[in-house]
Amino acid sequence: MAPYCYRCPFNRAPADRAEARTYRKCGWECVGKVEQSFDLAARRRQPIAAFAVEPHVQGAAGLIAQPEGWLQRTAAIARHHGALLIADEVMTGFGRTGGASLFASHHEQVQPDLLCLAKGLTGGYLPMAATLTTQAIFDAFLGDYAEFKTFFHGHSFTGNPLGAAAALASLAELRRSEGIAHRRRLERHLTRELATLWSHPHVGDLRQTGLIAGIELVQDWTTRQPFPLAARVGIRVCEAMARRGVLTRPIGNVIVLMPPYCTTLRQATRMVSALAESLEEVLPHRPGR
Ligand SMILES: Cc1ncc(COP(=O)(O)O)c(C=O)c1O
Repeated sequence: MAPYCYRCPFNRAPADRAEARTYRKCGWECVGKVEQSFDLAARRRQPIAAFAVEPHVQGAAGLIAQPEGWLQRTAAIARHHGALLIADEVMTGFGRTGGASLFASHHEQVQPDLLCLAKGLTGGYLPMAATLTTQAIFDAFLGDYAEFKTFFHGHSFTGNPLGAAAALASLAELRRSEGIAHRRRLERHLTRELATLWSHPHVGDLRQTGLIAGIELVQDWTTRQPFPLAARVGIRVCEAMARRGVLTRPIGNVIVLMPPYCTTLRQATRMVSALAESLEEVLPHRPGR
């Protein structure tokens, strides 16, 4: 079960004008569901081999931001059952989720056994991905040739020299103190700008983690009633944003804002005002409602 506080059947808090995970009322039932799955598998003597997670924010699922503590709790359950922990940080890695850590897992002191990296590794400039693992897992593929334990799977372009050079240059940029300070400023600025969107009655939830934001559009914020997908609301809002010079995509009725780190504060303001104007164009409302 994904920890989707805004639409969680266990969240007893009525809709409010704040990020759902911050005012939720629940008993961590979503963590309980994870525990039940592990327990059930253990009872059937078919223990779960690995627990794969996108730490802190599940991207393509709808920018589902996890409540603080979810990762640590579920990781502890997986560990208790002897499962490996796989963190997919393709989207969340390399400073995307803000704070001092480069990786989202580390915000909650979780150290995965396998770490999937891509996008931010080269700042998105050249294609390169990496899978990091522990010595113990690496060693499992070592042995005499006759044992045939080699991990034969690979990619056509593994270790591409241009990609590697771009990744090294990007990592140097990421670590520069000016860059770190700018990302923090940009994050705080985005928080302030996004807060202005709460006045729009079709903004249901607004989930920001570092420099990732998801704005969930609904028919009625008081009831959280979703727009039918057939109305293509997310697509129409993004098309209106594109006409204002801001390119992004929706995931259903969730608008994605993920500014590149070189975004200036002024550009971030423009991104949010383009979204506000586009909401007015596609979903006009009378002020005060
Ligand atoms: C979380 C996550 N994992 C994996 C992928 C796929 O990454 P790649 O195309 O580098 O294999 C994506 C792509 O958008 C992603 O967002």
